[in-house]
Parts: sequence; C-alpha cells; structure tokens
Amino acid sequence: MSVSVHNLSKFYADQKAVDSISFEVKKGEILGFLGPNGAGKSTTMKMLTCYLPPSAGTASVCGLDIIQQPLEVKQKIGYLPENNPLYYDMYVKEFLEFALQVHSRQSTVDSRQRIKETIDLVGLNVEQHKKIGQLSKGYKQRVGLAQALIHQPEILILDEPTSGLDPNQLADIRNLIKELGKEKTIIFSTHIMQEVQAVCDRVIIINKGKLVADEKPENLQNLLSTEILIEVEFEKNILADELQQIQNVHMIDKISATQFVLHGKDSIQLRKDIFAFAVSKNNPLLTMKQENKSLEDVFLQLTSKN
Ligand SMILES: Nc1ncnc2c1ncn2[C@@H]1O[C@H](COP(=O)(O)OP(=O)(O)O)[C@@H](O)[C@H]1O
Ligand SMILES: [Mg+2]
Repeated sequence: MSVSVHNLSKFYADQKAVDSISFEVKKGEILGFLGPNGAGKSTTMKMLTCYLPPSAGTASVCGLDIIQQPLEVKQKIGYLPENNPLYYDMYVKEFLEFALQVHSRQSTVDSRQRIKETIDLVGLNVEQHKKIGQLSKGYKQRVGLAQALIHQPEILILDEPTSGLDPNQLADIRNLIKELGKEKTIIFSTHIMQEVQAVCDRVIIINKGKLVADEKPENLQNLLSTEILIEVEFEKNILADELQQIQNVHMIDKISATQFVLHGKDSIQLRKDIFAFAVSKNNPLLTMKQENKSLEDVFLQLTSKN
C-alpha cells in the first residue's frame, strides 16, 4: 500500500474536523477526495503530509509512519497545498531551483537537468522565463505542480488543484493529473463531482469529518437508494389505470395519452415487466428511457445527512 490511514482524527477544541477515518491507497492509484467545504479534506491532507499532528489514529506513507518518520515521509510526498502558495516575485526556474534545494540540500550537477525535465513534464516551457506573478492562474497551477514534483516523489497530494481555473485550464490540469497518475500514486481533493468521474480510479467522499463512501466512480450511482423513473411511450393510446397492472410500478405520471413516467425500484425487473405488458396489449413500445440520477444526486444524498 502506498498510503494507509487508520482511524485518523483531528480535533479543534471540541470540533471533530476529521473523525476517525480509515482508507488505503494502492500504488499507482488516483484517489479523488471529495467533500463539501469544511468536510475535512485539507486537514486530512495536512496530517498525511506531516504539517499537522493527528489528535488520534495513525497513517503511513510507503510504509513510513507519519508521526515517527516525518522527514522520510516528506521525501516520498509531493504536496500542492490549498490555494497554491507561491513566491510571485521569483522567476519560475529560480523558484523551482529553490524548491529542489529545500529537498536535496546539496546542489548537484544534474539539478539543472531535473528542473528542465520538470518544466517539460508540466508544460511550462513557453512561460519558463517569466516571473511567477506574471503567469495566468492555470500556469501558476503548473508551477505549483512542478514544485510538488521536483524531488521525484512517489506520491502526490494535491489539495483542490483545479479550483478557480477556467474551463480550458481545468481540462489541461485534469489531463496533466491523469498523465502524472500513470507514474505516481495521487490523492487529490475536489468538491466537484464530475472531476472524480473524469480523473479518478477511486473516490472517497467525506462529510463533516466522516467517511461516507469509498467506491469506484462508476459504482457511485448504486449507492442511491431512491426510486428510479422510466419514461415510456406506446404507439397507441393507453389508460393510466391499465398501466397499474404492471408489477413493480409504484406510481404513474401521465405526460400524454401515449407517454408516461413510471416509478419503481428494481430497474431490470421493471423494464422487463413493461416490455411484457406492451406485448400482452399488442401495443408496441416506442420509447423506454431510464432517467439516470446524476452523480450530483449521489453526492447530495450522501452529504446532506446530519
Ligand atoms: N486551524 C484550525 N482551527 C480551527 N478550526 C479549523 C482549523 N482548520 C480547519 N478548521 C475547521 O475544520 C473543518 C474542516 O476544515 P478543512 O479540512 O479545511 O475542510 P475542507 O478542506 O474539506 O474544506 C472546518 O469546519 C474548519 O473550519
Ligand atoms: Mg480545503
């Protein structure tokens, strides 16, 4: 396991900002850390990167304990903190050299080479001679990523790396994270549901400090306990009363004499029953469309509980 978290907690006075969460991240995985503002994402990341001591629980990074071996842990991790703190008066290369020196102390002959490679990797070439303060937000984000990558860490911990970006920059940074994920283990936080779908192998949802889901993105919809809706259209008119005969239908909304929305629970059984019904009435079924609940619905359902 690259990262192993066991009952990790952080209390601020009597507030449980992180409340006994446990999860594991495998080598090479891209884990999305999803939750509304104030859920405890940044606090968890600060503990994993040894910036904050936990109040209780343990965690290890590449088998190294975050409390016993913080220096070794920091060598394994590249961290992009929330709001990407950078020195705006420094030049891009100057800053990356500084970041590299912070990690390696001795300046080695190949530090120039390493900086060049990193600039290539994050796509900073065209802007590499500028001051950080002169860069667009998307490019500042690339500098933040470069800083996190400079010492060739095995694990990247990125705290809301896409927040505040315009749609083009957003797509660029998401692609970059995916690309980096081919080589590294990545944990990144976001409050955007589509982002986990676009980028992650697995998603953890936290709310009010508690872990409420740990799933593959494609399984999130299964967590919904609400009923499903199926829109149907028949060729010939049909009475809503007749549709009551279909097993597993709980409720019927009429759209027109031939179109209805049927409410039920078990999608596959319900669809089979609708089909059999249409055959038995000799009334061809022209449309059968399930309204899928969006991932936002899953997120809302999981995080609106008290
Ligand atoms: N240094 C702090 N002192 C007191 N409360 C804090 C501190 N840092 C965070 N909190 C509180 O802990 C909770 C979790 O915060 P945070 O981890 O930043 O959430 P997220 O990153 O998911 O938005 C919030 O309610 C926040 O107000
Ligand atoms: Mg945060």
